[in-house]
Amino acid sequence: MFVDREADLQEMERRWGARPQFQLLWGRRRVGKSALIRRFADGKDAIVFQAVAGTVTDQLDLLTRRILAWRSDPELEGSPLSNWARTFAFLERVGRERKASGEPLLVVLDEFQYLAKTDKTVISRLSDFYGVVKHEELPLFIIISGSAISFFERQVEIGGVFGRRTFGGLLPPLGLMHKRITGGRGATLIGSLVGIPFRVRAGSRGPVLVYAGPLGLVRDRLRRRQDGGWDGEATVLGVRIGRFRMTRKGASRPVPD
Ligand SMILES: Nc1ncnc2c1ncn2[C@@H]1O[C@H](COP(=O)(O)OP(=O)(O)O)[C@@H](O)[C@H]1O
Ligand SMILES: [Mg+2]
Repeated sequence: MFVDREADLQEMERRWGARPQFQLLWGRRRVGKSALIRRFADGKDAIVFQAVAGTVTDQLDLLTRRILAWRSDPELEGSPLSNWARTFAFLERVGRERKASGEPLLVVLDEFQYLAKTDKTVISRLSDFYGVVKHEELPLFIIISGSAISFFERQVEIGGVFGRRTFGGLLPPLGLMHKRITGGRGATLIGSLVGIPFRVRAGSRGPVLVYAGPLGLVRDRLRRRQDGGWDGEATVLGVRIGRFRMTRKGASRPVPD
């Protein structure tokens, strides 16, 4: 299930269109940056690249593959992108094609700090690229995101291309999730959403919370911790989709921390 990012998604959807966009998104690991991006990208034309630590060649090989996953390109297949100047020139060309066809394109560079660490020129190349995108009104929706909070804060402070973003900033953790459990029944409350009811069953390794209705396949499996709290795993058909921790607050109100 995807929760509690409706306002962010609505803002992104509202901006999706012919005008250039540059969104910054930074925040702690596992707050849901990539999940938000995936959700937004779903059903859209998109190049979604999640950078890794490595050499420029590693990084650009991976980006080339992400571009080829979006659409085939005989030229790129023959020679992968070899430097950032060429990469952004390629994206400019794609942007002009999109302008001609009147279709927006999402371009995501996730975990961007790895790129800047490997090649110091990438920020100024990005700056030049964004200048062209704005000047020519290319229908590109650019998202730069990452988990290196101090890197992003410093870049925003410096100004430069990060200061010229159209929107976006720190992505806060999801709202506090509560579970109320009384006897064999309870409900999960996420942020300000209404509770999602479940029944408590005994599993082979601990209690299992079984949801009903549209979440009928979701099972939260709980295991007792030494400190008296619980570790939880949200699963669908036995596959883990998330993890949480709960500490007990009051007699019948465990709250994940
Ligand atoms: N809005 C959400 N609703 C439900 N689960 C989410 C949501 N956002 C993130 N998650 C889950 O939390 C975990 C971490 O999210 P992820 O997007 O990988 O974080 P980040 O990219 O910020 O490091 C993933 O398992 C993801 O499915
Ligand atoms: Mg991520």
